[in-house]
Amino acid sequence: MGVQGTAATFNYKVVRQFSIMAVVWGIVGMLVGVIIAAQLLWPELNFDLPWFSYGRLRPLHTNAVIFAFGGSALFATSYYVVQRTCQVRLFAGPLAAFTFWGWQVVIVLAAITLPLGYTTGKEYAELEWPIDVLITLVWVSYAVVFFGTIVQRKTPHIYVANWFYGAFILTVAVLHLVNSAEIPVTMWKSYSAYAGVQDAMVQWWYGHNAVGFFLTAGFLGIMYYFVPKQAGRPVYSYRLSVVHFWALIFTYMWAGPHHLHYTALPDWTQSLGMVFSLILLAPSWGGMINGIMTLSGAWHKLRDDPILKFLIVSLSFYGMSTFEGPMMSIKTVNALSHYTDWTVGHVHSGALGWVAFISIGSLYYLLPRMFGKTEMWSIRLITLHFWVATIGVVLYIASMWIAGVMQGLMWRAVNADGTLTYAFVESVKATYPFYAIRLLGGTLFFSGMLIMAWNVVKTVAGSKAVDAPIPAFNPAHA
Ligand code: HEM
Ligand code: HEM
Repeated sequence: MGVQGTAATFNYKVVRQFSIMAVVWGIVGMLVGVIIAAQLLWPELNFDLPWFSYGRLRPLHTNAVIFAFGGSALFATSYYVVQRTCQVRLFAGPLAAFTFWGWQVVIVLAAITLPLGYTTGKEYAELEWPIDVLITLVWVSYAVVFFGTIVQRKTPHIYVANWFYGAFILTVAVLHLVNSAEIPVTMWKSYSAYAGVQDAMVQWWYGHNAVGFFLTAGFLGIMYYFVPKQAGRPVYSYRLSVVHFWALIFTYMWAGPHHLHYTALPDWTQSLGMVFSLILLAPSWGGMINGIMTLSGAWHKLRDDPILKFLIVSLSFYGMSTFEGPMMSIKTVNALSHYTDWTVGHVHSGALGWVAFISIGSLYYLLPRMFGKTEMWSIRLITLHFWVATIGVVLYIASMWIAGVMQGLMWRAVNADGTLTYAFVESVKATYPFYAIRLLGGTLFFSGMLIMAWNVVKTVAGSKAVDAPIPAFNPAHA
């Protein structure tokens, strides 16, 4: 058992805290997801309560799953990985503690203000200006802790996972500062510093890079550490990982306009966004192949290791959504998919299949180690979680694909005399069965999180929080 809280040990406290909260916020965010999925099926569930209405709960769902669940998983894993791969204790311990408590306050404030209707109206950047200021403070502290640790490293090189985490931290700082530039008028109301089409462009430059850096680059950091660890093999190609890194971060930056096809945005800008989105397929798949091929020679491990199943299946979903995305960015395809549930299907194949799966896999790796154990209380429950979640995602995304394509086709169908074949409400009615299937899929996915929570409680109960000692640095292993 390691000594706790000294310079000779890793700082696991903050990793522990963020790991546990990732599970808690995952449950909360997905519960809200299930509620809004049910509201789309049964509008009576809005109960005529403004704070419980779909329009208020939807941003609560997106903020909770992306920033509270995904964010906590990213904080936890990055703090763990940067210490382990740099072979030093986390830089500026009190500042790291501030990032934990500060981030929790941001989440609680979001959970209060969004249902009350305080919003900037910018998707994924809804929080009002006082919360934006707190986010900035937390994020700058995160950067100081992370890069401070890198500077103090004992290893000569910087492992590739840290490159991805570093890019995620830096880019999110820039995105947040630029897109949240706003003029406060009261304590809880501000107006964007931009107007008209410029506002839209800045918003989707932010929105798309939030996908690219918050929902992708950070999670690729997870991939580059946890897949090789769990597989017990070195990463397939270190050279490919470096090419993957530079190609991905360069290309993502330009793809934002694919969210604004056929709008007032200049046409050439839309085409530029489309071309860069198509190019983006290459680095995305390069990364996916690098992750999956790490298992070459050890495929048999997939058979009975459910953590590896979570990690590798997440990469398959990553490959699928990064194939689908470039296709949807083609203007003629987007003419059909935009405004439909196809987009929602695409979002959740990335969000559930990729982001949630890889987070869950890495948390199952991390949590027992944070409490002096080598594995979770029940491996069978992890297997059960894996299958329940997999069936859940498949039901969710397949129903949304069918609903989306159906809606797109119904909206554009015209009779011989040029009138519309279907009234809009007919397409809504036709969508109901698919909303029911999505609700079932979402409920299954959510149940998987409850199974995880039970397993975590049993793993943690009666065990002691442990900080591992920092091994003596051996240059031969660098
Ligand atoms: C139990 C799991 C989940 C359920 C049942 C669920 C359900 C929903 C529903 C019903 C919507 C609204 C769709 C619409 O407007 O038509 C939505 C939107 C969204 N969800 Fe989830 N969700 C779940 C998990 C997640 C996770 C884990 C993430 C991210 C990591 C996520 C990210 C999003 C995003 C980004 C949107 C907005 C999509 C858009 O604007 O196109 N969801 N979700
Ligand atoms: C090569 C990679 C990708 C490309 C080129 C891409 C492209 C696209 C396109 C064209 C749309 C539809 C825009 C519209 O019609 O409004 C979209 C929406 C979206 N994608 Fe992707 N995608 C990619 C990967 C991903 C991944 C991996 C995730 C999640 C982890 C993701 C999350 C989202 C979200 C949240 C939206 C909905 C935004 C909104 O309207 O609220 N995408 N993407």
